Amino acid sequence: MPELKESLGHKYLQETKVSREERGGPSSPAIQRPERWKTYPGAEVVELPRDWQEQGVDFLSILQQRRSVRSFVDAPMSLADLALLLWASQGITGQAGSYFFRTAPSAGALYPMETYLAIQRVEGIDPGIYHFDVQGFRLERLSALLPGRPLAEACLGQGFMAQAPVNFIWTAIFRRNMTKYGHRGMRYILLDAGHICQNLMLAAGFLGMGGCPVAAFFDDEVNDLLGVDGQEESTLYLASVGRKG
Ligand SMILES: Cc1cc2nc3c(=O)[nH]c(=O)nc-3n(C[C@H](O)[C@H](O)[C@H](O)COP(=O)(O)O)c2cc1C
Repeated sequence: MPELKESLGHKYLQETKVSREERGGPSSPAIQRPERWKTYPGAEVVELPRDWQEQGVDFLSILQQRRSVRSFVDAPMSLADLALLLWASQGITGQAGSYFFRTAPSAGALYPMETYLAIQRVEGIDPGIYHFDVQGFRLERLSALLPGRPLAEACLGQGFMAQAPVNFIWTAIFRRNMTKYGHRGMRYILLDAGHICQNLMLAAGFLGMGGCPVAAFFDDEVNDLLGVDGQEESTLYLASVGRKG
């Protein structure tokens, strides 16, 4: 184990500190702003319903009862439940000028994260890898692969991922944030990812489901499943969701 001071993470945190003397923080790399959100024109799409039921579960008991769930029933998830989970984690909830706000906070309202789904069992949807079109509130099918097993393998063989009806996979498009925040922006991107995942975990609790965050994965193997390059856009975080079995 190297000295803490010698570690990459420590150096990064030191180099990206902001102080009163150096308000702007470290100089930013010159990078061009990419598109605000991603779509896959021409992909087969699944429109998502917005008519989910309010079930009135007490918020404090959702917090009290949240635990990571790593065993799931075989029954499929309903499309309405999946739609609620997507909305709760990344849905658009407001607009001010050119800014579209979402359920989870994001540094500078830049929303660098993209959501993909590895769907095994959702009523009315064929299994496959899907991308969440956040503005259109619909899914775009990227591949017809039955994704559970290959995804679990790409996540260090974590078997519960193959059992889950749905796995969420979050990537970051780094430029969305780093055009504004430069090197310090990487901190914010990681914080954004945490907010999104916790929203998902609590929404799962609201629906009587559970989930497990996953950060142990072979980066490029998961990126390959999604068809993202691992440079401009790369996977940061995943979560399995379903009804506890
Ligand atoms: C950043 C992060 C990464 C995690 N990665 C994994 C993982 O790869 N596999 C896993 O089974 N659990 C993972 N977890 C879940 C933790 O093990 C779990 O949250 C912790 O043991 C506390 O238990 P609880 O969530 O049930 O309260 C992760 C949690 C976080 C916050």
